Amino acid sequence: MKFLYRFVIFTLFVVSSFGDGDDDDVGYEVTNKTFPKGFLFGVATAAYQIEGGWDEDGKGEQIWDMWIHSNPKIVADGSTGDVASDSYHKYKEDVACMTEVGVHYYRFSIAWARILPNGRTNKVNKAGVDYYLNLLKELKANGIEAMVTLYHWDLPTALHDIGGWTNPEIVGLFAEYAQLCYELFGDYVKTWVTINEPKQICHGGYGGSGYAPGINSEGLGEYLCARYVLLAHAKAWHIYDTEFRSKQNGRITIVIDSDWFEPTTDSAEDKEAAETKIQFVFGMYANPVFIGDWPQVMIDRVADRSLKEGFDQTRLPPFSSEEVADIRGTYDFLAINHYTSYMVSAAAEPNIDNPSWVKDAGGNVYQKDTWQQAAIGWFRIVPWGIGKLLKWIKATYGDLEIVITENGVSDRNGTLEDDHRIRYLKLYMSHLLDAMYEDNINITGYTLWSIIDNFEWTQGFNGKLGIYYVNMSDPERPRVPKKSSKYYANVIKTLCLQDSCE
Ligand code: BGC
Repeated sequence: MKFLYRFVIFTLFVVSSFGDGDDDDVGYEVTNKTFPKGFLFGVATAAYQIEGGWDEDGKGEQIWDMWIHSNPKIVADGSTGDVASDSYHKYKEDVACMTEVGVHYYRFSIAWARILPNGRTNKVNKAGVDYYLNLLKELKANGIEAMVTLYHWDLPTALHDIGGWTNPEIVGLFAEYAQLCYELFGDYVKTWVTINEPKQICHGGYGGSGYAPGINSEGLGEYLCARYVLLAHAKAWHIYDTEFRSKQNGRITIVIDSDWFEPTTDSAEDKEAAETKIQFVFGMYANPVFIGDWPQVMIDRVADRSLKEGFDQTRLPPFSSEEVADIRGTYDFLAINHYTSYMVSAAAEPNIDNPSWVKDAGGNVYQKDTWQQAAIGWFRIVPWGIGKLLKWIKATYGDLEIVITENGVSDRNGTLEDDHRIRYLKLYMSHLLDAMYEDNINITGYTLWSIIDNFEWTQGFNGKLGIYYVNMSDPERPRVPKKSSKYYANVIKTLCLQDSCE
């Protein structure tokens, strides 16, 4: 849903209304409880969004390079990630920002095509390998742990040419790439993330909803993609588990993003519609990993609609029992990215015509106009949604360790005095603390997106989510602290969201 919403907003959004709405948190008091000692705070980025150097030193082309270069109008401000925040040259400055804030870990991603220009392990690009080794060494020298994502949406074009995430071969190719990364970098990496946000990869990239590679195969390609993303994740997880874990002592998991879906009323119909929606959004990827197989409601609904559409079998490719067993349990903790929420009410069954994941899920999904609109952005600010989502996760998947691997908000108007971001962080983290203290949810880490302004996909440089400002017109790309960087630093130091805590 998020990508769809983002896409519409990129196209239509003109005026920011941040600060004028009601986020439904009226009367809510920020907690004066503190984060427990040992709770870990981090910041996150992704390769294409920060690195630049898109074809430098032997890097291969990846699908975002390809897609944006051939469709320049796709990006709201006409920019590209060719230079982005220039972290390929300025990673030491990024680490200096992190040191200033005092974070415990840095979540960044490896660009597959920077180390394997053709996506395959027959040709390794030494300059690319050196770049990540240097970054890892710089982090180590500054006492910052590495949380490394293997795939944050930038598939080498050479692999897209053979069908990308809809070709079964991708499972083995991803596993080989993952294995190489463990060999090359594993001694420096405490936490691995195999895949970032499969929903955006599959529905954004293959369901026609505005992400590279821009394939429009709604209700078909997006399910194939989901199948192979999950199998690729599982294979990479098992390789780490059996061959590297005992030597490298790290942890590994998949990052799944989810909005919260709140039933409009207490009626059984609205509750069922909301539950169905979250199963199609989060359960689609979490159920196979944390319970086993696609969620039953997906299996039933897609089969039913497929037959009515005239297919002789379900469009949702089934997992064999071996595959179910292979994917089940491939996590060391549950990692979640969360930004916003939606309301859901029951609706008449969508028409039977073209296949569609959105129609398969059904329901009437919307956001309240009264919820604050994030400045030039794709979401509304709904702080209580994170608490509800966490409770639902615990009720559905059991008492698991949870790390928030992304949360943040875009700038209001480019000012360094980003009080709105401080308010956002304070409220979201307060609901997080409520979940920990009141609902006994085992949350051990929080990752702010992002340390520096960067290239926000099809929103380009309009979407600034950093706690450090980067002037994208300045070739030097200096990093300048925003007020929120001081606030976050203080939270990390004092473990308290307010000026003082109990
Ligand atoms: C993605 C990031 C993105 C952020 C803010 C997340 O879905 O992982 O790459 O920048 O949202 O839009």
